[in-house]
Amino acid sequence: MKIAIIGLGVVGQGLLEILRDKAAELAGRYGFQPQIVAVATGSKGTLANADGLSISELLTAIQAGHLDHYPNTAGLQRNLDTLTLIRQSSAAVVVECSPTNLQTAQPALDYCRASLSSGKHLVLANKGPLALAYAELVTLAQQAHKQLRFEATVMAGTPSIRLALQALRGCTIHEAHGILNGTTNYILTQMEGGMSYSDALVQAQQLGYAETDPTADVDGWDAAGKVIILARALFNSSITLADMAVSGISQITLDDVRTAQAAGEKWKLIARVTPSGGSVQAMRIPLNHPLAAVSGATNAVTYATDLLGEVTLVGAGAGRLQTGFGILSDLLDIADR
Ligand code: HSE
Repeated sequence: MKIAIIGLGVVGQGLLEILRDKAAELAGRYGFQPQIVAVATGSKGTLANADGLSISELLTAIQAGHLDHYPNTAGLQRNLDTLTLIRQSSAAVVVECSPTNLQTAQPALDYCRASLSSGKHLVLANKGPLALAYAELVTLAQQAHKQLRFEATVMAGTPSIRLALQALRGCTIHEAHGILNGTTNYILTQMEGGMSYSDALVQAQQLGYAETDPTADVDGWDAAGKVIILARALFNSSITLADMAVSGISQITLDDVRTAQAAGEKWKLIARVTPSGGSVQAMRIPLNHPLAAVSGATNAVTYATDLLGEVTLVGAGAGRLQTGFGILSDLLDIADR
């Protein structure tokens, strides 16, 4: 499978590390033999080679600060602009994992359009294009007879999308709720242990949980973007960010956390999705609430269904390999088809 990767930040590098470290296992168990034929970054250059790029050399170059450090090889093209790189690429699949922009979804949205309209499957870890243009991308994918996959956009690689759209097929889902942001759950958990909000945020950034602009996490917008993606995927609802009540955790102090603890409660950032709407709200929940036990960068989603009652999925909500795995799971599905 020839792959182009747009974005080589935490997530893109995580995917490359997985493909490097599990190459033998992926080939042996699944017959999956990926070849990276193009990579593009926002500020560290682009590379393309229809004969394939070396994953190890890509990681070395990007970790040295720029793809210029990648060695010269036959057939290598440097610094094509990203739209040209996508359109010209021999890739069967484009992976979009550049930083999420929830205001315009750009430049990633144009990359997504170019990928599908030039006949590539599209796998997203980037939430922006789906949160702002889900219907358009679904239509483009249908017109191109290509797959649009986005497991990594909600709860990293924890299979929240697959559970709802594949494993629960035949059930009617009435509602989904849970904890859909790793950064804020990590910060709140650290604050329960006495750490300051700002120190906990710095840790969440160092651990690769936070968005490039972490205000999206702490003010609730990252979770709200995931609510829109779930609303579209589960209910085909056309809710937008403007339709939703959204609050974050940046106003919550250590005193607030201690006051809740004294009352036998915890602060959590709870997302909710129904066929008619969605919300993201910081709220106090009792310690015996199932979501109270979900700590650190772990996330959880509960789907309320007609035939099974409530089905809850708990797992990683953010992180380098955790999100890289979400992309891998989509690539494996596409390869199977
Ligand atoms: N910044 C996001 C989070 C990454 O903390 O949940 C995963 O979408």
